[in-house]
Amino acid sequence: MRSRNDLVDLARQAALNAYAPYSRFRVGAAVLGSDGITYTGANVENAAYPSSSCAEANAIAAAVSAGVRKIDAVAVACIDAPTPEEAYPCGRCRQIMSEFSVDEIHVTAGPGSLVKSHTLDELLPHRFTL
Ligand code: THU
Repeated sequence: MRSRNDLVDLARQAALNAYAPYSRFRVGAAVLGSDGITYTGANVENAAYPSSSCAEANAIAAAVSAGVRKIDAVAVACIDAPTPEEAYPCGRCRQIMSEFSVDEIHVTAGPGSLVKSHTLDELLPHRFTL
């Protein structure tokens, strides 16, 4: 099992592959699957803005596409944000995390920034399930 810092480092590295020519806001995510393997993603934007996808959604899609159905932890690095307060996952990504029972989320921003850790219950209370 990787440590929180390892997962955050992977998210930071993933952010370097972000395709964000429109927002200039690079995001990377790393997720730890219940298989003990880590998967990464970056945000991928599109000239038709709503066709863009978030880093967390892409990392989770990579894990699920490899057969994972339970994700233990997610790290997200918004390397162009000044502080973690501007780096929290969007609502849609929180709902996607809920689908795969994410336990903990680690959030960080630009170089040298603190890492803030939360449970999914803290970030998405009273969430929708079927
Ligand atoms: N973005 C993410 O990748 N994850 C989030 O949770 C919030 C926002 C991306 C989408 C877009 O490419 C850029 O950040 C600015 O919104």
